[in-house]
Amino acid sequence: MSAISIIGSGIVGSRIGAGFEQLGHDVIFYDIDRGKIQRLMHEHTATDDLTYALNNTEISFVCVPTPFNNGFDNRYIVSVIKEMANILKDKDAYHLIVIKSTVAPTTTEKIVIPLLTHVTQLGSSVGLCMNPEFLTEITSSWTEEERYTRDFFTEERIVIGEYDIKSGNLLENLYKPLNKPIFRVNLTTAEIIKYASNCMLATKISFWNEMFLICQDTQINSHTVAEIVGLDPRIGKYGTIHGKAFGGKCLPKDLKAFIEFAETIRDIPLLKAVDTINEEMLQRYGVRE
Ligand SMILES: NC(=O)c1ccc[n+]([C@@H]2O[C@H](COP(=O)([O-])OP(=O)(O)OC[C@H]3O[C@@H](n4cnc5c(N)ncnc54)[C@H](O)[C@@H]3O)[C@@H](O)[C@H]2O)c1
Repeated sequence: MSAISIIGSGIVGSRIGAGFEQLGHDVIFYDIDRGKIQRLMHEHTATDDLTYALNNTEISFVCVPTPFNNGFDNRYIVSVIKEMANILKDKDAYHLIVIKSTVAPTTTEKIVIPLLTHVTQLGSSVGLCMNPEFLTEITSSWTEEERYTRDFFTEERIVIGEYDIKSGNLLENLYKPLNKPIFRVNLTTAEIIKYASNCMLATKISFWNEMFLICQDTQINSHTVAEIVGLDPRIGKYGTIHGKAFGGKCLPKDLKAFIEFAETIRDIPLLKAVDTINEEMLQRYGVRE
């Protein structure tokens, strides 16, 4: 069994930490929010001391926020990685850092790695993986099908972006008991898999919302259309409960962050339209909670 620290014990951190506890690991929850730590202390080991959390565990999952504020905002990731690097440089035992936060493609390669190599022996005493999270806060709003419910134990696949084989092996061993397909890829591929996944979900919702807007003006019941079309397994049900903008903590910001990244590479009319339709839905019909 391993000793695991959760760095940022919000929605994702607390859920994956509880999942690893159920698998029998020792988990220490860390957060800068003292109120959160106090609440977690009732049932878990929790601390507001990062040095304690790192020195008493061998693997850390970084689950801090990655907002989009007129551009991808990596300030939380940067500050926490700097703090961790400063502590880990004095630690004797090997420590694996796992980026769980959704970070813009190339962030791990171009920002996290330089921060770590500046201070620590990345590769020999510190390991690094990018392991995207596919949890969702909102399930029933876009489809009523039970099989779309997700938690730590029901993910279809585990994606491990690895800095090196040693890091990837350690993380793969941790996930093996879940008996899910595990895919080992490079760091940026793992980051893009997360964005491709959320952009696909957003696209499905905006598609059905565009159908809704068309049907509104032609007095057709778009819900009847969606229900019947969604029976085709090639199309599926996700997004067929339509009529409002998508909101929540992830889809809007991840779509915008990916557009920002992708626009540096090529013109991306499809994803921009997904965003435009959602903005129109937001103005006219509000957001689905
Ligand atoms: N919420 C979801 O359903 C979901 C799903 C997949 C991926 N994600 C991604 O996971 C990441 C975290 O999302 P969340 O919803 O759990 O956010 P959250 O706001 O619920 O939790 C983040 C936690 O990090 C803490 N924090 C901030 N700075 C810190 C620091 N320097 N050190 C330690 N803790 C710090 C905050 O106090 C907060 O408790 C984001 O990148 C998000 O995009 C979220």
